Amino acid sequence: MNIFGGKFDFILHSIGMSPNVRKDIPYEQTSYENMLKTFDISALSFHRVLQTAYKLDAIDEWGSVVALSYVAAQRTLSGYNDMGDAKALLESIARSFGYIYGRDRRVRINTVSQSPTPTTAGSGIHGFDSLIDFSERMSPLGNASAEECADYCVSLFSDLTKKVTMQNLFHDGGFSSMGMSLKAIEQYQKSFDECDCKENE
Ligand SMILES: NC(=O)c1ccc[n+]([C@@H]2O[C@H](COP(=O)([O-])OP(=O)(O)OC[C@H]3O[C@@H](n4cnc5c(N)ncnc54)[C@H](O)[C@@H]3O)[C@@H](O)[C@H]2O)c1
Repeated sequence: MNIFGGKFDFILHSIGMSPNVRKDIPYEQTSYENMLKTFDISALSFHRVLQTAYKLDAIDEWGSVVALSYVAAQRTLSGYNDMGDAKALLESIARSFGYIYGRDRRVRINTVSQSPTPTTAGSGIHGFDSLIDFSERMSPLGNASAEECADYCVSLFSDLTKKVTMQNLFHDGGFSSMGMSLKAIEQYQKSFDECDCKENE
């Protein structure tokens, strides 16, 4: 607040880290300490930021807060490990604090559930390249890029979205509403054609 000379108009939470993902430790073999660290860094940090800003009354009226999430909060995706649990907690914190901030400060809080995106954190996910390819084929509009994610966040920081709060907003080219696409099924079928797997007999 000293640096900006007043209250904040918006805050973006963009932090994620799982020791299990980083060290390739499977979900069923995690330690209690590793899981706590995942939740602490990836989800509880959001609570701390919001709680601190609340105590300091640091966000202007009609301000906006966004945290970045992923569809693994709702659906299990192989390799995403305990980050799925962390994202579920992150989205829940957005709703819990969204109520308090809306009621007391006229500030909105949302999460943006973004397509898989090649970044340092993303690339740590086991089988990440295949995940990107799969969701590209499954999404009618294709994966959303990092730049497109930034554009969407800007729209949520603008006054044009001032009554949107406590939402998890999918920014994923339609992936989260799909069951199976033609593009994905063609690739799936090709994998049988190219091998002599039993399933193809
Ligand atoms: N990359 C994807 O596919 C994808 C998809 C959906 C959501 N997200 C989310 O987007 C957000 C940003 O991740 P990214 O993909 O841009 O990767 P990134 O590696 O660029 O960003 C992760 C950030 O977390 C920070 N961080 C890690 N541990 C920290 C700690 N202990 N204290 C403070 N900061 C810490 C890192 O410094 C880094 O800036 C994360 O919440 C991630 O889960 C990513």
